[in-house]
Amino acid sequence: MNYQQVLDEIFLNIRSLENVGKVASYIPELSKVNPDQFGVCLKTLDGIECGVGDWKTKFSIQSICKVLTLSYAYKILGDKIWERVGVEPSGNPFNSLVQLETDNGIPRNPLINAGAMVICDMLLSQSKNAQTEFIDFVRKISNNPNIDYSYKTAQSEKSIGYRNIALCNFIKSFGNIRNEPIDVLEFYFHICSIEMSCQELVQTFMFLVSDVINSKDNQSILEEKKAVRVNAIMQTCGFYDESGEFSFRVGLPGKSGVGGGIVALHPEKYCIAVWSPRLNAKGNSFRGMKFLESFTSQTNTNIF
Ligand code: DON
Repeated sequence: MNYQQVLDEIFLNIRSLENVGKVASYIPELSKVNPDQFGVCLKTLDGIECGVGDWKTKFSIQSICKVLTLSYAYKILGDKIWERVGVEPSGNPFNSLVQLETDNGIPRNPLINAGAMVICDMLLSQSKNAQTEFIDFVRKISNNPNIDYSYKTAQSEKSIGYRNIALCNFIKSFGNIRNEPIDVLEFYFHICSIEMSCQELVQTFMFLVSDVINSKDNQSILEEKKAVRVNAIMQTCGFYDESGEFSFRVGLPGKSGVGGGIVALHPEKYCIAVWSPRLNAKGNSFRGMKFLESFTSQTNTNIF
């Protein structure tokens, strides 16, 4: 299979369609991004890496980072994380408060804002340097010491973070946040602010493609039995109230972010990242969804 040719063809085709949707402007820093940038990178288990468009340009990965915080917490804390966060798709927007009331402050899953905050709280409780240790983990799995938080974007989100502040305080009122909400939110805004290019994203997420991908010092990043469960959660919960649609059209585990990035992977074959900042009504990249639908159809790699 000539993957470069497939990427090029789909890229040209999607780029010729009207690019509808809106950039996430509720975070002031994200509204400054050129909305028509578009990049794709693919990395296969047998070592092929190819890309097209703006695949080397860094962007704000936003909620994509929630897969990384989940993986890190699962690695170091194990199954006890499931006492405080569920594994069910929420069927609701990423920043919804509604289910928390009836669910007694237990978020439906770790990939919605509420669930990611509870994961952040767990990480804060087990270390005084959670923010540094987490970015070190990300650098280790990406094999890239230059990955970093964007303090500007974190600050920008904090300046308008009213809904997330409400969410965190609401969960605290049920006792499922143990630290001070202000500290949990500070950490949460930072994890969301991490910047990566499509190329860096696929490099980072290869640890979920195969447990044989080891870190530099040759220690497995996440046990296989945990990695398969992270993939299952991405499959069912990675796109909020569009998770069913993504599964139906694309058929891969994946995760989106309001920066316009989507990472998706075939557990036995490859990892692919697409970035295009205009979002559909559910907050997922318009071109990203379209690109991935064409890609799995043409390469016959829908896992179903
Ligand atoms: O908390 C927020 O609203 C953002 N930092 C992250 C939201 C996000 O990326 C949702 N993804 N589609």
